[in-house]
Amino acid sequence: MADNIKIEWDKIHNIIDKYNSNPENLLMIMQDITHMYNYVPPEILPLIQKKLNVDESLIYSVATFYKTISLEPRGKHIVNVCTGTACHILGAQKIMDAYKEKLNIEEGETTKDGMFSLEGVRCIGCCASGPVITVDNEIHGGLDQSKALKVIGTYEQPSEKCAVKEEG
Ligand code: FES
Repeated sequence: MADNIKIEWDKIHNIIDKYNSNPENLLMIMQDITHMYNYVPPEILPLIQKKLNVDESLIYSVATFYKTISLEPRGKHIVNVCTGTACHILGAQKIMDAYKEKLNIEEGETTKDGMFSLEGVRCIGCCASGPVITVDNEIHGGLDQSKALKVIGTYEQPSEKCAVKEEG
């Protein structure tokens, strides 16, 4: 994601209003904003604080506790490697190492071109298919290092809308 994003304040207000500025909906509000920008831009926090009448510390707690929420810019694609016990036994660390080397980043970081962020996550409930990763919301299982690299290779390609298939 670009550093210089333009905040669409009307949409932000609409999201907060949709949840009636209710502090109990803080997580949902932050998730909706995350869907727009892949993170919650810090310049929005004072507005959330004011409209929901919550402490800044609560916003930071939510962002720290939930892996899906970030206050830092993240990549276009979020790669989550499951590091739960079953996946760990089945070789999750090798997958993580392959991604670190290929993307030249550490866990929790984003590639310089803004394409990928790499995260480790706890069990996502598909243990029988381990080792498992998710890219954005798609789950990929039964991976080894080479299959795992092929998976993210498909996300480096142009989107299907732009791909031109040669006929005949
Ligand atoms: S441990 Fe990875 S899906 Fe359960």
